[in-house]
Amino acid sequence: MTVSSAERRLRVLHVEDSELDHQLIVAQLRRAGLDLEVHRVDTLAEVAQALTEAWDAIVSDYNLPGFSGLVVLDMLKESKRLIPFVLVSGEIGEDTAVAAMRTGASDYLLKNNLARLAPALLHAIEANDMQCARLEADRELRKSKQRLHELAGHLQTSVEMERAAIAREIHDDVGGSLTALKFDLAWIARHAQDAAVRQRVQSALETVSYAIEASQRIMHNLRPAILEQGLVAAVQWMSMRFERRTGITTTMRTSHEQIQLPAGVPLVAYRTAQEALTNVSKHANASRVDIELSVDSGVLTLEVSDNGQGVAPGDLAKARSFGIRGLHERAATVGGWVDLSSNSRGTSLILSVPLEAPDDSLADDEAGRAATHDPSAWGCA
Ligand SMILES: Nc1ncnc2c1ncn2[C@@H]1O[C@H](COP(=O)(O)OP(=O)(O)O)[C@@H](O)[C@H]1O
Ligand SMILES: [Mg+2]
Repeated sequence: MTVSSAERRLRVLHVEDSELDHQLIVAQLRRAGLDLEVHRVDTLAEVAQALTEAWDAIVSDYNLPGFSGLVVLDMLKESKRLIPFVLVSGEIGEDTAVAAMRTGASDYLLKNNLARLAPALLHAIEANDMQCARLEADRELRKSKQRLHELAGHLQTSVEMERAAIAREIHDDVGGSLTALKFDLAWIARHAQDAAVRQRVQSALETVSYAIEASQRIMHNLRPAILEQGLVAAVQWMSMRFERRTGITTTMRTSHEQIQLPAGVPLVAYRTAQEALTNVSKHANASRVDIELSVDSGVLTLEVSDNGQGVAPGDLAKARSFGIRGLHERAATVGGWVDLSSNSRGTSLILSVPLEAPDDSLADDEAGRAATHDPSAWGCA
């Protein structure tokens, strides 16, 4: 909680070449009841030095020896500090005043109207305090969103790792034992003389075969081994199975038979297609789905479109629906994004993942430029 500007001791930087005017202004402010510590400077070098310190406000004359108050204002902007700036002048033209306000001055006034200075200064400081508080809140919000985003990405990744580990255990422990059991049962079936035993063994063999199939299905859901044959083959296989299971006509088109993809991308694309198809069967009431997988200009695109009833307004905000929200987070883990478009004739979900690593120097430059233009990166005194 900040102390209100009327109650705290204010540190004011006064850019003024006339000692007399300085005294006048300080007296004026003290008379208005302000508790002040005022520091006077009158050269650009002193201004530059002073701008490295913390100030509650800057009061600047317009006409200074060899430079104008607007230069001080420019230096303040350059320093990226948010400090209220009040321009005071003997004779300030309307054009100058407008220019100053445009450049970011908080206020301007004439030396023959100094009675307005204290209220103007307090008002400027309060407005600045509010802006600083808002920027701080924005920054906190952005940080917290970023943390949430990282957490969601981390959860997606750890869920996949956990799934892979479980699949491996099922394969090594359960799968191995079931296969051994099947061999033993087959041996018994071949050597048993008794018809009743043979019948029992046959039924045990069926049960074991069923258990092997089930464990393979579970393993596949946990970790799609088909991905080892490439994303294209895996999605083709998925679309075939989907058509067979649901009776919904499913087509799959691709720009390449084989696509070289960075680690992590195939699984993200596979899970995206899986969720999109599950949604079609669960919600769309569609008779047809088209899947398109392509690489164009270094961007992998997976599009799943249906001819169903479309997503109703509010559907995506359902409290317990995390499918599409999860896809956004998943896509972000590999630098991609998901777009969903929908109308009464159907829904289309598109995953895009740029495949080329961004040029580092460019990225730095972009970040640098963004920081310059983003006032929220500026410091409050
Ligand atoms: N292809 C689709 N056609 C129509 N509605 C859809 C489609 N995909 C998603 N929806 C709507 O969007 C909602 C959110 O989807 P999703 O985030 O995957 O969560 P869930 O499938 O668990 O409900 C669904 O409940 C459904 O109402
Ligand atoms: Mg879903």
